[in-house]
Amino acid sequence: MHRINYPRAPDKDTSKDRSMKINIVDHPLIQHKLTLMRRKDTSVRTFRELVTEVAMLLGYEITRDLDLTMETIETPLETMESPLIEGKKLCFVSILRAGNGLLDGLMRLMPSVRVGHVGLYRDPESLAAVEYYYKVPTDIGERLTIVVDPMLATANSSIAAVDRLKQGGAGNMKFLCLLAAPEGVRAFNQAHPDVELYTAAVDRQLNDHGYILPGLGDAGDRIYGTK
Ligand code: PRP
Ligand code: URA
Repeated sequence: MHRINYPRAPDKDTSKDRSMKINIVDHPLIQHKLTLMRRKDTSVRTFRELVTEVAMLLGYEITRDLDLTMETIETPLETMESPLIEGKKLCFVSILRAGNGLLDGLMRLMPSVRVGHVGLYRDPESLAAVEYYYKVPTDIGERLTIVVDPMLATANSSIAAVDRLKQGGAGNMKFLCLLAAPEGVRAFNQAHPDVELYTAAVDRQLNDHGYILPGLGDAGDRIYGTK
């Protein structure tokens, strides 16, 4: 993984843009699978499987600094003190609906985790985020909250979701996506400098309709086959 927090010119090599603060998980397995997902002729079934697989790989990285607790266990040979994750301290929040694609993989990795949902869609004209659902664990303020959505484009959705979660009491948050646009990363950094971003790649730019270029298209449509 490499961390961008030093200045560089965005259009040429976004991986070195100093104006963005984001962690890029550039493991070869993730980059390979992301390429398969970007291909326009990748089937819904394969795309869905790849989102789940990449979510698990990204989940490995984003949970790297989770606290461990020691527990006394019996191996077949003797008693030992062995580390376990403090599972109750974590919460995933999926931004509906595409966030659920990532969530599926993350829940396979951590089956006991608590889960919240924020329903948001982008108004196609204004690109503003419109909320239609909100349900999160009541004790979210006591948990590390990992907000997930495959796409960070204008960042209107992610900023609105994190705003809402902060109002709802969430404190310690990270944001995980598959793909980000430089414009969105900068906007998110400005709105929520306390929330660390993780992604598999930062692409070149947004088009006039707020889609990421070169991107992978509409993540929700590709996961659920709605177009
Ligand atoms: C997509 C994506 C993000 C949002 C990103 O959702 O899953 O939530 O767009 O764009 P932004 O950074 O410009 O806000 P969409 O609104 O298409 O809804 P869906 O998940 O229900 O398809
Ligand atoms: N939402 C998507 O699903 N894809 C984009 O490229 C931008 C926003």
